[in-house]
Amino acid sequence: MLRISKKIKKFDKKVFVDGDKSISIRWALISSQAIGVSRAYNLLKSEDVLHALKCLKKLGVKIKNTKEYCEIIGKGINGFDYKKNLTLNAGNSGTLGRLILSLLIKSPFKIKIVGDKSLSKRDFSRVLDPLKKIGVNFYPQNRSTLPIYIKGSEFIRPINYEEKRGSAQCKSCIMLASLNAPGEMIIKAKKSRDHTEKIFKNLNIPMKINRSKNFDLIRIQSPKFIKNFDTKIPGDISSSAFFIVLTLLSKKSKILLKNININPTRLGVIKILNKMGGKIKFLNTRNNNGEMCADIFVQSQNKLKGINCPTSLNSSAIDEFLIIFLAAAKAKGVSYFKNISELNQKESPRLEIGSKILKMMGVKVESDKNSIKIFGNPRLELTKNYEVKNYRKDHRVLMMSVIAALSLGGNWKISDPDSVNTSFPSFFKIIKKLGGKFR
Ligand code: S3P
Repeated sequence: MLRISKKIKKFDKKVFVDGDKSISIRWALISSQAIGVSRAYNLLKSEDVLHALKCLKKLGVKIKNTKEYCEIIGKGINGFDYKKNLTLNAGNSGTLGRLILSLLIKSPFKIKIVGDKSLSKRDFSRVLDPLKKIGVNFYPQNRSTLPIYIKGSEFIRPINYEEKRGSAQCKSCIMLASLNAPGEMIIKAKKSRDHTEKIFKNLNIPMKINRSKNFDLIRIQSPKFIKNFDTKIPGDISSSAFFIVLTLLSKKSKILLKNININPTRLGVIKILNKMGGKIKFLNTRNNNGEMCADIFVQSQNKLKGINCPTSLNSSAIDEFLIIFLAAAKAKGVSYFKNISELNQKESPRLEIGSKILKMMGVKVESDKNSIKIFGNPRLELTKNYEVKNYRKDHRVLMMSVIAALSLGGNWKISDPDSVNTSFPSFFKIIKKLGGKFR
């Protein structure tokens, strides 16, 4: 149990956050399909990524994970050592659970895919349906949640797939499946994070992308082989977001977040907070293997204003809404976020749980399954007892609660603090560095 009963004092610090989760998982999965040794520096060492490495090891991939770097000895496309009675555990990770399926589409044996309690509640039909069309078998046939068995096929065929949710997991799942499909896979995808596209481009995988305002048309041909590749993984903007909002809401504070990935498909949180008056700046912007990076500078801002959030920003802020809601609670005026039912499909039903936490804090909230209105108050100060539990150990719910406690006050009791390890093992170390007190 974590207890916080003191607001954080003013701080002015330079901070490194952990490596990007989406890029780390993609690097691990794709380098397992390359030939030879690939090396990643600053790979995120969180539970989600460690589960990815464990799954690959079970498939016969050799991995060396040191303090400084991680090396994966790729076995080539579809080069896994398939065995009977194999079980792969995706832990808490939707990205891993969904993307690894597409590397197994030629498995001659049934492989059981399991996940933790939270992941076992999440919808998998969104990737099972297109994979079935490609020729992959799943058992039980009509199941849409884990645990599930996958059995591949020798007769994989490319499909014409339309991804309408703006889900990078669905898009990437079919992109990875194309490594094993003959002919051309055609994916019409609503805009979402494009890390897989960037890696494919760097690896010279035959791919064409036609971009229009809301959709990308992606055509991929299976490459003959993938060459090994090294990468330096930048800091995760989703993890940074917690410290951006902590700084905005605290008094007379400054933070410089070093070397953060600022891929435009991930910048919803910055655009939203800046529209609210955040004045967040990028310094020292640079290109790192096609992924843009920068140092992010933030200062306290006691004049945040509410936002009627354009739905076009939803996909690029999908993991940051909880912490954005907290900023909206201390902004002047009403904030309105709509078409966000996908939030309830995450590690926990985040729209439901987020509005519950705000209500517990005394914030006026109107929400339904698809939207939330937050009636902000710039003078919001918390003075009562607050308890956060039964949140399916959702790492981002935990971090949002910690930031609420440190920036707004009150006596907080928060269960399962270890859940930060899912995505951000250094979270509490950084809080300490900034002077935050917790027990
Ligand atoms: C992710 C995509 C998003 C995001 C998740 C990571 C990815 O999920 O919420 O944390 O790495 O592709 P959806 O694609 O389901 O929206």
